[in-house]
Amino acid sequence: MKLGAHISPISRSYIENADVVFMGVSSGLVELWIQEMNGDVRSLQPYYQEGKSRLKTYKEMVKVMLDEVRKGKKVCGAFYGHPGVFAWAPHKAIEQAKAEGFKAHMEPGISAEDCLYADLGIDPGTYGCQHYEATQFLLYKKRIESTAYLILWQIGLTGDLDLTQNNAKKDYLEVLLDLLVKDYRPEHEVIIYSASLTALNNFSERKVPLMSLPNEKLSMNDTLVIPPAKKMLRNELFVTKLNEIV
Ligand SMILES: C[S@@+](CC[C@H](N)C(=O)[O-])C[C@H]1O[C@@H](n2cnc3c(N)ncnc32)[C@H](O)[C@@H]1O
Repeated sequence: MKLGAHISPISRSYIENADVVFMGVSSGLVELWIQEMNGDVRSLQPYYQEGKSRLKTYKEMVKVMLDEVRKGKKVCGAFYGHPGVFAWAPHKAIEQAKAEGFKAHMEPGISAEDCLYADLGIDPGTYGCQHYEATQFLLYKKRIESTAYLILWQIGLTGDLDLTQNNAKKDYLEVLLDLLVKDYRPEHEVIIYSASLTALNNFSERKVPLMSLPNEKLSMNDTLVIPPAKKMLRNELFVTKLNEIV
């Protein structure tokens, strides 16, 4: 997540010792940094194109990585954050490689979620924490637990049904608001969070009332944090059951 700081020693070693490294990062600075670690570093960024479905892009990424694996090369895919968190291509590439009989595995990384807990001082264990992808959250019925944190990923892509958009339209955010106000007051304070990507910048934390969400400018790097709105209620039935055990 943070340039030069959040890479684990083992991930670095895989990058250094691979025959070819594919890079799934959008920052030119990060690309230059990774290029210092290996002589054959290839960017996956050119597969993204305006108006093109991201699913098509992800499938092309998997194919290009697998093509090199099939040639017998040691291939490393370097993705920002945790490669397995809200990320389709890394999981798919590993699954496909294994299905074809190759050895493949994922190394964990420091995700936006990890930065969020540290920067905002949130412990997911205190009240519990639900995580959803913002568009999926609208498309499928979920049981919202408003005594816990609700974290919506890809808020900047809300409503992007054909996966071709790169910003959230106000109308789509209004629909999200319609859903959220069933469980939260319109004045409930929410946080638009963005982790810092370099040591030169701080993280950003914009606190706004829920009702103003559709008017906010949201970026691809924003995650929405909705703090609990209600107190947790003791489940007396189960408290009694536990107390009855001697
Ligand atoms: C495709 S997912 C990739 C997440 C990444 N694999 C990770 O481990 O954080 C992209 C979403 O992650 C979240 N995200 C990415 N960068 C972020 C940042 N700098 N700060 C906060 N959230 C971020 C946003 O919700 C964004 O829409």
